[in-house]
Amino acid sequence: MSDPFQVLEHEHRLISKVLDALAQAVERELPVSFYERAVEWLDIYATQFHHAKEEDILYRYLMDHGMPRDYGPLGVVLEEHDYGDAYIVAMRKHAADQDIPALLEDVRAYVELLKAHVETEDDLLLPMGRAMLTAEEIAEVAALFDAVPDPEPSVDVWETMVEQLVAEAGGKA
Ligand SMILES: [Fe+2]
Ligand SMILES: [Fe+2]
Repeated sequence: MSDPFQVLEHEHRLISKVLDALAQAVERELPVSFYERAVEWLDIYATQFHHAKEEDILYRYLMDHGMPRDYGPLGVVLEEHDYGDAYIVAMRKHAADQDIPALLEDVRAYVELLKAHVETEDDLLLPMGRAMLTAEEIAEVAALFDAVPDPEPSVDVWETMVEQLVAEAGGKA
């Protein structure tokens, strides 16, 4: 069983790499297929796998400790998850429509949104969680994280894809 905060930090590092790859892709005018794959990764890994752990598990514990869900740091990050979801839908649509200017505009906005989001969680919310939760609760969160199903076909496939996206965007992994 792994430390759940380290699990989220590890996932944040991978998400940040994909965000950096997207930022580089915008500069290099990569084909739409690159964005389609990066957006698929963000949907499956960042949103369905990672954000779900935060929303359905860790953040519920923070709410149980009295952290409000509608304002303050938790209110902010939950709203950012919703904005991010809307951008994913929009980026998919722009890619399908081959509307490059709209796609690039939303990619830029999404990268900015999610970079700030990951920073808020790493610098503020995860340290607060570590300080608030008891050792027993941290063990419960770890067990619940372990029970979250891996994205199909496996978490390794999705994590390896990060290196491919980074290499294609011309950056360093
Ligand atoms: Fe988040
Ligand atoms: Fe996160």
